[in-house]
Amino acid sequence: MILVTGGAGYIGSHCVKRLQDAGYETVTFDNLSEGHRAAVRGTFVEGDLASLDDIRGVFAKHPIEGVLHFAAHCYVGESVENPEKYFRNNVANTLNLLQATREAGVGKFIFSSTAATYGVPESVPITETHPQAPINPYGQSKLMVEQMLGAYAHAYGLRYVIFRYFNAAGADPDGEIGEDHDPETHLIPLAIAAAMDRRPPLKVFGTDYDTPDGTCVRDYIHVFDLADAHIRGLEYLAKGGESARFNLGNETGHSIRQVLERLAVIAGREVPADDAPRRPGDPGTLVASSQRAREVLGWEPRFGDLDSILRTAWDWFEAHPEGYAG
Ligand code: UFG
Repeated sequence: MILVTGGAGYIGSHCVKRLQDAGYETVTFDNLSEGHRAAVRGTFVEGDLASLDDIRGVFAKHPIEGVLHFAAHCYVGESVENPEKYFRNNVANTLNLLQATREAGVGKFIFSSTAATYGVPESVPITETHPQAPINPYGQSKLMVEQMLGAYAHAYGLRYVIFRYFNAAGADPDGEIGEDHDPETHLIPLAIAAAMDRRPPLKVFGTDYDTPDGTCVRDYIHVFDLADAHIRGLEYLAKGGESARFNLGNETGHSIRQVLERLAVIAGREVPADDAPRRPGDPGTLVASSQRAREVLGWEPRFGDLDSILRTAWDWFEAHPEGYAG
């Protein structure tokens, strides 16, 4: 059985679904502070990693063979305003999970990290050996957990896979689950909501970056492909693979204007958008090299083109304009 913390959240719930499709049994552990009960398939335990007893109880009750750890706060801006919240939840509470994992003698661990651990890139595409110099507490909190995993591996023999996601986007191609954040801050859901007249025009944060059209360039990766990588990561560890870190991106950058242009075609209407000042802390360009995941895990994105990402996201929001509440 695989323990999935944060399995009611956006990326976690897509992973739970894919794990089950691949024949794994799962137990999802989530405090529902940001996740959705309706997003979870299979066994669900409501609990909080702040409580060592809560998480110990899951290991006591279920025959856990591996852990996928998604539970975390994930808003860069909020982390700057309230770093304590991020260090408490993302770092201190992860230590409880690591302790319970060690006590239970479970030796396989997969961790959701982020491109935000690299900070402002010195060069793109970004490889896993690029220096990690995060510029906000969110990225710092994720890097701290990466370092904790290194120490656990050294001292206790834990084996881990760290995935550094670039810009997760899209929704379940079957349409069962999708993205529902509150507040929503991500480009694609906000642009879709603007196109549907459910939100004000999108603000394009910064038009004077050193990029072809002046807007930020990001590497959007489909949540289905992220989930697929996690399954490969588990198989890799099950076969005895050594601890490893992998970037997960499509290795292709799209500017905000390009995203809005493609979305307009899919939506069949313009996306209302206004130019706005830069958002603090945004690097101009973030594009992954995912060569290592391709070579070591045999990972190959199936929804690698921007249109598939936008189409599945659009379909989800069209069917669920209020998210899981609708
Ligand atoms: N953007 C806008 N208008 C908006 C929202 C976003 O122009 O209303 C822009 C941003 O400035 C950025 C791009 O769209 O240039 C993508 O922004 P997102 O907020 O969708 O994503 P980020 O690149 O900021 O963040 C993502 C993840 C983070 C992770 C980060 C790594 O959501 O968890 O990548 O840098 F930390």
